[in-house]
Amino acid sequence: MEQNKDLNQPDIPLAKRIHFNNSNSILKKKLLILSPFLFLLFSFLALRLIRKIEIVALDNLNFQDQINHDHRILGHLPYAEIPKEKLVLIEPNIEVHNDMRDSLLKMRDEAKKDGIYLVFLSGYRSINLQNEIFYSLKSFRNQEAAERARVSAPPGYSEHSTGFAIDIGDATQRETDFEIEFENTNAFKWLIKNAAKFHFKLSFTKNNKYIDYEPWHWRYEGSIEALKVFESSNRKF
Ligand code: DAL
Ligand code: ZN
Repeated sequence: MEQNKDLNQPDIPLAKRIHFNNSNSILKKKLLILSPFLFLLFSFLALRLIRKIEIVALDNLNFQDQINHDHRILGHLPYAEIPKEKLVLIEPNIEVHNDMRDSLLKMRDEAKKDGIYLVFLSGYRSINLQNEIFYSLKSFRNQEAAERARVSAPPGYSEHSTGFAIDIGDATQRETDFEIEFENTNAFKWLIKNAAKFHFKLSFTKNNKYIDYEPWHWRYEGSIEALKVFESSNRKF
């Protein structure tokens, strides 16, 4: 009987009371008050991070773009022709950029003091002359452009047109002029050891994928103008 009575009575839910300990509830209250500010702070930081990631991604894209479109033709970068007024004659038939004259002659003098006799083979070449060299020999040798470009730059793409390039031989071993064997001469060994003192650098090393190794071809990087000219070439990707 007693049991039935209980079942007929409506079920009255009782509020559940949870008692936080004091310090916990103060902390939660503080967090509650601070939450809008924290939300704003995190949003701000997140936006900054996203922006940074976007900038890095964009930089990478530009960088890739430069790599893919640095205007090389068959491995050669474009070079403008030096204005005539900047050319100086250092020997019959050898003209170079005025910036490099003193350094080049000093290098030859210093080599001489060490018993090494450098001979200058080719300096400035006009784009017209480069055109002749590239196409006449290409035709004469019955070569495709890529094959010819391994040993000669297409017109408008030669370091020689800037006046900052010089081909060097050993006066005591002229049979090695423009030959790989030049690397076995004392002149080449001396250059490898000393050329940087005079701001000269070997342009076409053994690592070049498109252009054959040229131990005789050196370029000058001892002025800001020269560095600007060779900036693309020096950029390490
Ligand atoms: N022989 C080098 C590549 C030139 O023609 O400039
Ligand atoms: Zn050369």
